[in-house]
Amino acid sequence: MANNLLEGKRGVIFGALDEKSIAWKIAERCAEQGAKLTLTNAPVALRFGELDKLAEKLNATVIPADATNEEDLENLFRKSQEILDGKLDFVLHSIGMSLNVRKKRDYTDLNYDYMLKTFDISAISFHKMMQTLWKLDAMAEGGSILALTYIAAQRVFPDYNEMAESKSLLESFARSFGYHWAVKNKVRVNTVSQSPTMTTAGSGVKGFDVFFDYADKMSPLGNASAESCADYCVCLFSDMTRMVTMQNLYNDGGFSNMGMNPALLDL
Ligand code: NAI
Repeated sequence: MANNLLEGKRGVIFGALDEKSIAWKIAERCAEQGAKLTLTNAPVALRFGELDKLAEKLNATVIPADATNEEDLENLFRKSQEILDGKLDFVLHSIGMSLNVRKKRDYTDLNYDYMLKTFDISAISFHKMMQTLWKLDAMAEGGSILALTYIAAQRVFPDYNEMAESKSLLESFARSFGYHWAVKNKVRVNTVSQSPTMTTAGSGVKGFDVFFDYADKMSPLGNASAESCADYCVCLFSDMTRMVTMQNLYNDGGFSNMGMNPALLDL
């Protein structure tokens, strides 16, 4: 399905760890649609993940960066502009990690040092990314910046733990920074709120399998796959959506507007 929606565009993709990662599918789809890319992940993830495999397939360069480290981010965006030979047209933030979830701490017994680290990795990194791009004047006019999020920012999903607050913060950064980018050079900033998806980060959440099935039944179109998320992101990176900004956009098969679905009751 190549119609070159991203022909001639330059992009940076954060967060592809392995073939299951949503960012992996997004990178593949962006390349298919004609974009030139650099790929990045935390140095530790590069040791355990498979990003080199994707880079080889897409003929893209990997530049390590811890998304919480401003020096790493500056290096990443400087190098990306050199390698891709120009300012950036799009950037994807696809990063999430909760220390309290990883350490199996309940929401009523959270460790606050872990919580701050979680916010830094999962949300503040988005602001750091945008502020670094801003200071380097690295975004091309009319570009597009996206981050992936989850509906636990708006509704209660008890086992999502402190990631709920991380996503609220992330979405707020998209709105607030989105204003500044729009005024500066018509760059759009949005978040895509994705269905539960079987990935390393997703399946780290307690009871994820059962919840995945629940969401699938509740959504009239079923759960949105990582591939469908990739299609949506291509559209949002393209010039077809140049007036869409500061939005939280659902790619969730209709889940967010459902109250009750008889399919769940086995009627
Ligand atoms: P994933 O585990 O494949 O991706 C998470 C990525 O974050 C990994 O590549 C990891 O290395 C990276 N990361 C962690 N700490 C980092 C750091 N300090 N610096 C740079 N990168 C770092 O899982 P998935 O599901 O593809 O997650 C991508 C995004 O999608 C996350 O924001 C997640 O919250 C979001 N999302 C996932 C859903 C799911 O059910 N899987 C549903 C809705 C949103």
